[in-house]
Amino acid sequence: MTSVLVLHGPNLNLLGKREPEIYGYLTLEQINGELTKLASEYHCEITCYQSNHEGELVDRIQAAADVFQGILINPAAYTHTSVALRDAISAVRLPTVEVHLSNIHQREAFRHHSYLAAVSLGQICGFGLDSYLLGLRALIHHLQGQEP
Ligand code: DQA
Repeated sequence: MTSVLVLHGPNLNLLGKREPEIYGYLTLEQINGELTKLASEYHCEITCYQSNHEGELVDRIQAAADVFQGILINPAAYTHTSVALRDAISAVRLPTVEVHLSNIHQREAFRHHSYLAAVSLGQICGFGLDSYLLGLRALIHHLQGQEP
């Protein structure tokens, strides 16, 4: 069975009440629920984890190496700052898809650059929940060797 680690970065635990005009009204639990449903359609198992701490996210990525086949990640603010997350993804060599609820390229200039994009299979942003669902679908297709 395909297994994917879903990682959510800082402040995403506040989804639902955090700037809903930008990030929407869904909670993280609801997003994880939708991802779990989609995954099961593909006989894929997902494990979801959120942390506000960079080092914990690095630890999770390192520990994923022998357990999961791929990573779906919304690195949140660490997208724009973290060489450590980028290096962890490079180190474990697991296919990784980067997602964002908002369109980071339409927002403040400091959000335009992603340290993770260059080590990711692809990046999907701007579609709210659909960014996650599209990202998971693309990752599973990649892992299962199917055409999208
Ligand atoms: C985000 C975009 C980031 O710039 C921001 O820091 C977040 C959420 C998104 O999902 O749109 O926390 O990753």
